[in-house]
Amino acid sequence: MGGSSKLVAVIGAKGQLGSDLVEVLAQAFEVVGFTHADLEVSDPASVQQALGQRPWRAIVNTAALHKVEACEAQPERAFQVNALGALYVAQVAQKTGAKYVYISTDYVFDGRKGQPYLEADLPQPLNVYGASKLAGEHLSLQAQPDTLVLRIASVFGRAGASGKGGNFIEAILGKARAGEALRVVADQYISPTYTKDAARLLLELLRQDAQGLFHAANQGVCTWHALAQEALRLCGLEVPVEAIPASRFPSPVRRPAFSALSSQRLAGLGLASRSWQEGLRDYLREKGYI
Ligand SMILES: NC(=O)c1ccc[n+]([C@@H]2O[C@H](COP(=O)([O-])OP(=O)(O)OC[C@H]3O[C@@H](n4cnc5c(N)ncnc54)[C@H](OP(=O)(O)O)[C@@H]3O)[C@@H](O)[C@H]2O)c1
Repeated sequence: MGGSSKLVAVIGAKGQLGSDLVEVLAQAFEVVGFTHADLEVSDPASVQQALGQRPWRAIVNTAALHKVEACEAQPERAFQVNALGALYVAQVAQKTGAKYVYISTDYVFDGRKGQPYLEADLPQPLNVYGASKLAGEHLSLQAQPDTLVLRIASVFGRAGASGKGGNFIEAILGKARAGEALRVVADQYISPTYTKDAARLLLELLRQDAQGLFHAANQGVCTWHALAQEALRLCGLEVPVEAIPASRFPSPVRRPAFSALSSQRLAGLGLASRSWQEGLRDYLREKGYI
């Protein structure tokens, strides 16, 4: 049904990644954004009503319950949104002949590898959020076998989480400007993702009709502490940042100590992500901070 169509649906259109996707995918497609008010992914009738009538070329699902503490406290809700929600959207994609794109996370890994995770590495989630997203990947792929799963990590983008302007970079810069002391975790290793860069990669992957699993974080590995320091440096804010262990923020939720992503598969399509430092610089420019 959706083969020659240029229509692309983006679920979570006001979110951090979703809002950039709406803008970037419009370079090649006719994009329709769906906000949470338009569609509830955990309700199959709502998904069918919103998406079931049009010949989509692709349906991109960025919606998630991604606050890890909330997922641990409400595992049923986490699985309803992140796993069953993924399935309901995949089923509509399958019925309408659309490519399905499910956005996933570095938190599917346990961190024991100690080196950047590749697409071929075996996931082993440490918490309910990671388990629910991994279930979402599997349910998507079994319902619509040519699904594209895009894993990203430690996201920053113009809209901020849930479209509310906030993310890790904003929190650090806000505290520095307010003269507050900065203490940041220095023993969790990540690969940050600038949402605009992830959106550009997805545009190319859709153009090439790619399928299967891709890691799409920015290249390189850093700690939250190094990310904070680089953001401050680029903004010309000379503020000391105390390096602290994650154990200083006791949490009922286990997090991987090393969840950086790297891609073996993008190169096969002539694609590559940029370094996290380049992504961060462009983000700060986009926000007008530098
Ligand atoms: N944020 C990160 O650091 C991170 C890291 C790795 C992977 N990811 C993954 O990347 C994706 C996008 O993350 P993001 O940071 O862009 O998230 P976001 O800013 O919170 O955007 C998600 C959007 O989805 C909507 N939404 C939430 N629950 C929904 C539901 N049940 N039905 C329909 N819409 C719903 C939200 O609307 P409301 O706010 O109105 O509910 C929000 O606009 C997610 O799949 C997440 O798991 C995120």
